[in-house]
Amino acid sequence: MKRIRKAVIPVAGMGTRFLPATKAIPKEMLTIVDRPTIQYIVEEVVASGIEEVILITSEGKSAIENHFDYDFQLDTVLKQKKKRALRDELSKISSLIDIVSVRQKEPLGLGHAIWMARNVVGNEPFLVLLGDDLVRSKKPCCRQMIDLYNQVSESIVAIQRVPRDQTYQYGIIEGEETELDRTFKVKRMVEKPAPGTSNSDMAIIGRYLLMPEIFDFLGTTTPGHGGEIQLTDALLALSNKRGMYAYEFEGKRYDAGDKLGYLKAIVDIALDHPGLGASFREHLQAVCADKDCACS
Ligand code: G1P
Repeated sequence: MKRIRKAVIPVAGMGTRFLPATKAIPKEMLTIVDRPTIQYIVEEVVASGIEEVILITSEGKSAIENHFDYDFQLDTVLKQKKKRALRDELSKISSLIDIVSVRQKEPLGLGHAIWMARNVVGNEPFLVLLGDDLVRSKKPCCRQMIDLYNQVSESIVAIQRVPRDQTYQYGIIEGEETELDRTFKVKRMVEKPAPGTSNSDMAIIGRYLLMPEIFDFLGTTTPGHGGEIQLTDALLALSNKRGMYAYEFEGKRYDAGDKLGYLKAIVDIALDHPGLGASFREHLQAVCADKDCACS
């Protein structure tokens, strides 16, 4: 069985849900407390034992590459100013993991973005993480998936239960329980089913562990939902051919690509922050005690 060594992170999307904030900066660089969203994603990958990240980028996304790069000029200035702690912090970020970038030249969909990684991934299973989905958990979500892969040796999609009236926002799977904890055998899968048309509440979240055969299907997948080449359509084809598992991961997921989800992530992460948590909690309590506050 081949080890999981690589993770693909598509970051080519335009971030229209966050305009105007994302007009001039990538949405992946929006800050959650003290670091950009993309850093949380890369940190999950690193904590899961992955060796290489493949970013699928587009024009205007160089800030992401720069964030993980070594900045000689900045380091020299910080050195002169004797800012040791800051230098250490920045050096940690630039040596987190090897990062390779591939350009997606046209916005043809998530499936097409992943297909762009085929030559760099090669013939081995790999992870995909979507930058909008932040997961907080004791054991990193990707590590949970790799541990399951070590038992089932097949592709896995991470899922969570969502309210029925929200299924139209997700790829939805139907599956059968297996004897493994929180694990289902995928039977059917549909990208963003029209409201009221789905029998399942099992939504795919942005974590996938995929066998390299997915590239064969991505190469022939025709545009689907929204006129885009959908990863979900290729996943269904792969699942029909060789099987696939759905795993109800342990942890909390935030849709950081949505304004409310982004705020929730900020609040929860700030409350747990070693330097800020206590004061932030006091502030929230004061806000709630204010009789003008809607929640009191
Ligand atoms: C993508 C996938 C969808 C999945 C979702 C999770 O959709 O296509 O299957 O459920 O991510 O966040 P997007 O939210 O990018 O439209």
